[in-house]
Amino acid sequence: MKKIIATALSMTMAMSLAACGGGAASSAAPAASSAPAASQASAPAASDGVITVGFAQVGHESDWRTASTKSAQDVFSAANGYDLKFVDCDNDSAAQLEAVRNFIEQDVDYIIIDPIVSTGWDTVLTECEDAGIPVIVIDRTIDDSDKYVSWVGSDFKIEGLACGEWLKAYAADKGMSEINALVIEGSTGASATIGRTDGFKEIADREGWNIMASQSGDFTEAGGQEVMESYCQSYKGKFNVVICQNDNEAAGAMTAMDNAGITYGVGGDVVLVSFDANKPYVQMVCDGKINANFECNPMAAPTVSEIIQDLEAGKTPEKEIYVPEHWFAAEDNVPSIDVNGETLEVIHATQDVVDARPY
Ligand code: AHR
Repeated sequence: MKKIIATALSMTMAMSLAACGGGAASSAAPAASSAPAASQASAPAASDGVITVGFAQVGHESDWRTASTKSAQDVFSAANGYDLKFVDCDNDSAAQLEAVRNFIEQDVDYIIIDPIVSTGWDTVLTECEDAGIPVIVIDRTIDDSDKYVSWVGSDFKIEGLACGEWLKAYAADKGMSEINALVIEGSTGASATIGRTDGFKEIADREGWNIMASQSGDFTEAGGQEVMESYCQSYKGKFNVVICQNDNEAAGAMTAMDNAGITYGVGGDVVLVSFDANKPYVQMVCDGKINANFECNPMAAPTVSEIIQDLEAGKTPEKEIYVPEHWFAAEDNVPSIDVNGETLEVIHATQDVVDARPY
């Protein structure tokens, strides 16, 4: 039975690869989009009615990741008819490949992968295909293989572009004559890092800004603090913008700047920007400690469950599904920005906005 499904998956994914030219996130604005996925791919029927799902999660490096894991555990619960086999890969790519191969050995019904890095996937995805196990990719993209049914996640390049466009408008309003920016990147090789870095750099290059340094803080608080400490030693008094590619790095950067006597946020020496928009950090935007925060939505699991139910019903899921995302700012001086020809709202982070945050 699984071999027949594997053949159908193989044929339809090859067709989809030819039609889409690869599985990377497009530059479309964050909204549901897409091309048809494995059109004849019916999912393996679970004989006992329970659907077994293997989830190879990146790790536990950030508050965002905790929210992503909780979302999956809530959705793929026994009460919802699932048996979730969860593996925390601790940011180790080899461990993640091994986790996927173990899921194949266990003959799970579906495999969910949040890829630590965007390349090196085709061999193991071929193994999944040969075993007839549909793969759903979430959050970060796989850029060197199209052998998965669907991807659900964020447009990281748009996040980076939005950050740059917001900074341009903010700087103009505040009369900042030059931008000297320090960037704390996420984990090397992650599509979240690549997209945010490329998007921000595109605007920086266009506007002639000075990116003084751009180093990885590995999406962790400790990494953000370490990189910021070294930036403070090398560049104190010379920078006026710090871009942290996630909230935990921003927490570390704040500690380092506090220790170095550098002020940040509304009225500070330095404009501080973050990504993710976890609730405690939108609170920091509301409190004026972080100037702006660009959301990365971790709640992919409900959509993945819909995809699985569609496959169970013999329907064709979308190949790419973008989760909705919002931008938050401490002040109301930039109400909207134009990104790739689309006008996007910048939400003034009032206490009501914070209180309504779902994670
Ligand atoms: O891939 C999403 C990124 O990974 C989030 O921005 C970060 O917090 C997480 O660790």
